[in-house]
Amino acid sequence: MSLVLLSLAVLCWGAVTPEPTIRCGSELGPSPEWTVPHTLTPGDLRDLRVVPVMSSVAMEDNSILMNISWVLRADASIRLLTATKICVTGKSNFQSYSCVRCNYTEAFQTQTRPSGGKWTFSYIGFPVELNTLYFIGAHNIPNANMNEDSPSMSVNFTSPGCLDHVMKFKKKCIELGSLWDPNITACKKNEEIVEVNFTTSTLGNRYMAFIQSNFVIGMSHVSEQNQGTRISVLVPVTGESEGAVVQLTPYFHTCGNDCIRRKGIVVLCPQTGAPFPLDNDRSVLSGWIPLLLPALLVATCVLAIGVCLKWRHEKFKKTSFPSAMLLPPIKILVVYPSEICFHHTVCYFTEFLQNHCRSEVILDKWQKKKIAEMGPVQWLTTQKKAADKVIFLLSNEVNATCDGTCGKSEGSPRENSQDLFPLAFNLFCSDLRSQTQLHKYMVVYFREADTKDDYNALHVCPMYHLMKDAATFCTELFHVEQHVSVGKRFQACHNRCSSL
Ligand SMILES: *[C@@H]1O[C@H](CO)[C@@H](O)[C@H](O)[C@H]1NC(C)=O
Ligand SMILES: *[C@@H]1O[C@H](CO)[C@@H](O)[C@H](O)[C@H]1NC(C)=O
Ligand SMILES: *[C@@H]1O[C@H](CO)[C@@H](O)[C@H](O)[C@H]1NC(C)=O
Ligand SMILES: *[C@@H]1O[C@H](CO)[C@@H](O)[C@H](O)[C@H]1NC(C)=O
Ligand SMILES: *[C@@H]1O[C@H](CO)[C@@H](O)[C@H](O)[C@H]1NC(C)=O
Repeated sequence: MSLVLLSLAVLCWGAVTPEPTIRCGSELGPSPEWTVPHTLTPGDLRDLRVVPVMSSVAMEDNSILMNISWVLRADASIRLLTATKICVTGKSNFQSYSCVRCNYTEAFQTQTRPSGGKWTFSYIGFPVELNTLYFIGAHNIPNANMNEDSPSMSVNFTSPGCLDHVMKFKKKCIELGSLWDPNITACKKNEEIVEVNFTTSTLGNRYMAFIQSNFVIGMSHVSEQNQGTRISVLVPVTGESEGAVVQLTPYFHTCGNDCIRRKGIVVLCPQTGAPFPLDNDRSVLSGWIPLLLPALLVATCVLAIGVCLKWRHEKFKKTSFPSAMLLPPIKILVVYPSEICFHHTVCYFTEFLQNHCRSEVILDKWQKKKIAEMGPVQWLTTQKKAADKVIFLLSNEVNATCDGTCGKSEGSPRENSQDLFPLAFNLFCSDLRSQTQLHKYMVVYFREADTKDDYNALHVCPMYHLMKDAATFCTELFHVEQHVSVGKRFQACHNRCSSL
């Protein structure tokens, strides 16, 4: 009854008073209104939305903020509304929580705007991190009394990754190569060659191009000094490449092995003249083998000159790997700490081992059922016995931007993965003190070595910084004591890795 009277009064005075706007400030604790009983309270919100926006204060890492907008219900209780409080909880590596309170500068005199339409407000704030789930809750003040239901509205918002059109401007993303537009085009020249064109980045000059259908059917290592230019790479393939995915992995100094990878699709090349000679890459690659036919040498020279001329002053260099190998694989158990980015680092490393050195990789992630059956200690002991090498994979970078997939495994990073790393470390620790056992262990890392003090004992293991030490890493990998053609295998691996 009193509300009806109020709103009638509101209708008479509405035109003369200024329109309410909001004034917002942080309010972490409970609002002062909690302590005072209210007989009447405003209703809840009608709508609540969140979108990420670029902040006007650029050049700061937290330059992406939430634009939270809400719509008020057009009912008489709006007369009682003095403020709206918004709280945001973020869940990624750690949890964050903060609240703002937006006071309305004037009491509401009308249920809708004088110009028509519902009352709508927006607040820009709360920094947005990458790939994070946010719970945004909002309620009107004065809120209901302490033991009553307080109407509130909440929405979830999952922030996108670095390739989003807004998020890509985050400093972190820029370092990962988000602003680089490689504009990949790729086509199948013939059964054995895929041509990949892309624009190089200004952040670095090393790339790896993979052609994948169900598995990797071809790869080339590219290094191009001319930054920001369009280049063309011929990748030898061993399977049907039409419709395959080309994945371009850059290695920039700002992000090392964790840079954003880009993808394209291989289509058929428009029919032109004679296809390119096939063996150009292989002859460059095998140049170190002393027993080459003179003809091949001549061919190499001619080719080298051709390449030089084409790319002016040897600005472009490319090698690739023949893919078929007939040696039995060596077994490698890879243990990694749970905070590592699985997709970027573990998958990449696994792909590297499998594709370059024909290793069979044992990963806990692929044997969850077995681990559950056997128990982690038994599983680790068995796998250690079965493996030719045990590699501790370290990465000091906890990267929020994990994407991409690697074959057998799906799911988000750190998802329900049991951390076998400390267990493996403790279990294998006694081996590290024994000279006869030590040869089985290696440490691999992708950034500066940063073995935590807890894992000091790992310092006795050979350590490799990839991709820098790729050649020595492979050499060591194949010093495995095995009765099967060690020499041959070593050569094959060295062949494959030395050019990385
Ligand atoms: C909003 O109003 C409350 C209660 O009157 C006051 O404590 C608070 O400082 C105000 N906040 C802002 C940002 O004006
Ligand atoms: C925030 O969202 C509101 C409502 O959609 C819109 O009117 C406003 O322009 C947005 N502000 C910015 C800076 O994008
Ligand atoms: C928000 O996400 C949580 C957890 O995933 C879920 O329980 C809740 O229902 C979601 N709420 C909305 C409004 O989508
Ligand atoms: C990508 O490259 C193709 C072929 O070179 C060109 O036609 C197209 O305009 C480029 N797109 C962009 C966005 O640069
Ligand atoms: C790559 O670039 C070369 C030279 O500019 C061009 O002839 C060829 O058609 C391009 N191929 C693709 C797949 O874009």
